[in-house]
Amino acid sequence: MELFVYHTPEQTPSDSLPDCAVVIDVLRATTTIATALNAGADSVQTFPDLDELMRVSEKWSPELRIRAGERGGAKVQGCDMGNSPLDCTSAKVTGKRLFISTTNGTRCLNRVAKANTVITSAIINRQATVNFILAHQPKTVWLVGSGWQGTFSLEDTACAGAIICSLEKSTQITIGNDEVIAAKSLYSQWQDNLLKLFHLSSHGQRLLRLEQDQDMEYCAQSDILDIVPIQKELGILVKWEA
Ligand code: MLT
Repeated sequence: MELFVYHTPEQTPSDSLPDCAVVIDVLRATTTIATALNAGADSVQTFPDLDELMRVSEKWSPELRIRAGERGGAKVQGCDMGNSPLDCTSAKVTGKRLFISTTNGTRCLNRVAKANTVITSAIINRQATVNFILAHQPKTVWLVGSGWQGTFSLEDTACAGAIICSLEKSTQITIGNDEVIAAKSLYSQWQDNLLKLFHLSSHGQRLLRLEQDQDMEYCAQSDILDIVPIQKELGILVKWEA
């Protein structure tokens, strides 16, 4: 199994795709997606473009949809929620489709959407992600951080490192690029204090300014959910059933 880490979707090769793409946006899109599906959402449909989200979701009855829009860390006017995982309670999401568009995470998903297998990961479902990869043994795996508008995000690369460190305990991996070593080193340094790392990160600072402290505490909890969101058709994620 050959592993590659890309800090942002822009850094992924434009002329190839992996067997398995793992999209990471710890603060907060992939944390929110895993939380919503775990809380009972029927599915999650992701949109790089907000207008497209509004147009497609308009066809759904309000009782069966939730519109989640975030730009710059803040909720988009006209949506039911922003991108806080703490808003994804069972009472709010059970049986509904979450229509979501975020600044980076949904754009990252769009970049790798045509890979054979696309799953999403975060710190909260890291081990579930590792178990999925071990069960499927893909030949090539891309761990793709969402970053921030094309720039590096500490939290996403640290999560890639968390996945690699756990994978290596159970299987032989081939290092596909230098970023794999960088991600492992970053995670090894911060694994016992991920919340502090998040607070130091540029997006973490942005979220603190938006008083999203509780979201960050939630996003920093390792392996609290045993769920893997998997793309069942282009742009539509469901809970993987083993
Ligand atoms: C993103 O897409 O960059 C993040 O999910 C933004 C956020 O929700 O804070």
